[in-house]
Amino acid sequence: MKQAKKTEGETDRGARDVRPWDTISLSPRQRQILSLLRAGKANKEIAHELGIGIGTVKQHLVTLFKKLGVSNRSMAISKSHAIEGLPIDGPVPLDAKTDGAPAAPSLLERRPVAVLSLEVLVTDGIASADLLRDLYRIYAEVAFDFGAVFLSHRGGRCDMIFGIRQVRRYDAPRALRAAVAVSEAMKSRHGDTVFIRGGLAYGYVFASTDSDGEWTGEAIGGTAIATARALVGRAQPGSVGLAPKAQATIADLGLDTSNGIPAIVPLNREFRWRRLMSPPPLALRGRIVEIQALRKRIMHLKSGNGGFSIIDGESGMGKTALAHVLAITANKESITNEAWLCAIPDSQPGSASLGRLERSDSHDVETVEDFCRRFAHPPADAPHLLIIEDAHLLPRDDLLQLIELGMRLNETSVLLAIVYRGRINADKHQIDAGSIIRPGHLPDDVATEIIEDHLGPGHPGTTWVRNMARGVPNFLTRLAAYVEHEDQVDGPGRVPTSELFVLVAERIEAHNLDRRLLYGVARHSKKIEIPALQEHWVGMTDEFEPTLKQAIEAGVLTLTRGRRGKPDSVEISHPLVKWVFSAAFASQDRAFG
Ligand SMILES: Nc1ncnc2c1ncn2[C@@H]1O[C@H](COP(=O)(O)OP(=O)(O)O)[C@@H](O)[C@H]1O
Ligand SMILES: [Mg+2]
Repeated sequence: MKQAKKTEGETDRGARDVRPWDTISLSPRQRQILSLLRAGKANKEIAHELGIGIGTVKQHLVTLFKKLGVSNRSMAISKSHAIEGLPIDGPVPLDAKTDGAPAAPSLLERRPVAVLSLEVLVTDGIASADLLRDLYRIYAEVAFDFGAVFLSHRGGRCDMIFGIRQVRRYDAPRALRAAVAVSEAMKSRHGDTVFIRGGLAYGYVFASTDSDGEWTGEAIGGTAIATARALVGRAQPGSVGLAPKAQATIADLGLDTSNGIPAIVPLNREFRWRRLMSPPPLALRGRIVEIQALRKRIMHLKSGNGGFSIIDGESGMGKTALAHVLAITANKESITNEAWLCAIPDSQPGSASLGRLERSDSHDVETVEDFCRRFAHPPADAPHLLIIEDAHLLPRDDLLQLIELGMRLNETSVLLAIVYRGRINADKHQIDAGSIIRPGHLPDDVATEIIEDHLGPGHPGTTWVRNMARGVPNFLTRLAAYVEHEDQVDGPGRVPTSELFVLVAERIEAHNLDRRLLYGVARHSKKIEIPALQEHWVGMTDEFEPTLKQAIEAGVLTLTRGRRGKPDSVEISHPLVKWVFSAAFASQDRAFG
């Protein structure tokens, strides 16, 4: 058996069979065949997939085995896993396990992530070994606490990658909070001669993941990592430099300082983001019934009748837009009003901001407790409107306090309006169902109006946007903005912006569904019959059905019953979800291309 030349420092143990990928240099065709071998394909299937004869496949295999220094296909498969840097392939069928190949090879996923690079600076000399050991321990602890993938580098440097396992909308500000946590821990142990500085970038990376979305360690990379590292050297001690995309993401979350999103964030607890209430739409379309109900409520308030009102529903349905209508109507009727936003629990670089209300038009901050106390004995005279935006962000006890307050305001001239993402259970809280406004999906004609507001009439992307958005206002406006900056409108194949990706993935990933199952479905542009899906299933045989059932029950997959003896099939329910998943897994099929 021909062996690769040992490189310096390489030990004999096990290393002799491992050749770096580049010294083996397989042709694209050989890589394709190796990938199909890894996918457990027989010679006949390989021939079929590549459109070549069986004889040719056999010839290729002889050369491939020779190059790998192996004598049969199972050796080739296990060898392929030992080669560093070998591109990652798709699922392997269950029986491949008995073939000596690792059970479940990785998926290569495109993930929107926040990347934080950190390093330590010691003002009076070189960091001691003790200090560095301490630093790496703190890095690892903080990365663990935040669920970040942690990569350590020499010289007190590291990268933390947020969003591999699970996308979180607030990953960029969470990363800053992690940086503050590291900085505070180091300062408390080593005093003021030690400084942390860092870089924060945001964007897509490619990462190898398992069915839970955990990083498998085979591949992780993307320009966001390089960007974050490049920023570190330019940051002042005790601060984190933000890449433009990181700034844009934070702005998109509705976070702000009084001076916009800074390019440099100081690592101290005093630093705070202010939440902004998203601006009202250019024109509010198709909400005539809801607006009428709100207007009626304001007129009622004007004649001295306060009480409780709720606007609830899924994210992006236009709840905030309706809250704006409420405030504007109140202004027109000269009713004083105040809007309060709920702090996002894990978005502040400093300490936790749970249960804090922030006044939308000033710097005022109040706890829910103080807020409720202030209106415990409301003045009986002039009508007054209170709006609480995104009350779902509050701890449960605080929310209950607000609901209680709302119920008590019935006899007063104060109206409390709560905007809540999700569904408030009216029965459970004994809330009059009539006081809940729940904006629904918009019909096609209204959807078209919204698209036209953004793109003008007759834009070629109109149909695509309308079909993808399925009547959700936020999807309509975001997708319209997306095609506005894209001249080509051809549907799938295009990559969603990371903001769109996060918007969609965050909702799906909360269900903790099996990634490989979703990949199996997403790679088909149409419905896939369940037996065909099962054929590529890499988990335990008896786990296939419950896993599939879970995805169907979560509403992520739609089941279609087979007719005339045909098997049942599934597909991804929402076109936007399908788009996002195909973009996430697109590299899979191209890995060997
Ligand atoms: N009826 C509507 N007509 C036009 N645009 C709308 C409508 N409802 C919402 N939008 C737009 O959709 C996006 C999401 O609306 P928003 O009120 O923030 O949703 P929510 O508060 O329910 O998450 C915003 O950009 C908003 O301007
Ligand atoms: Mg909102």
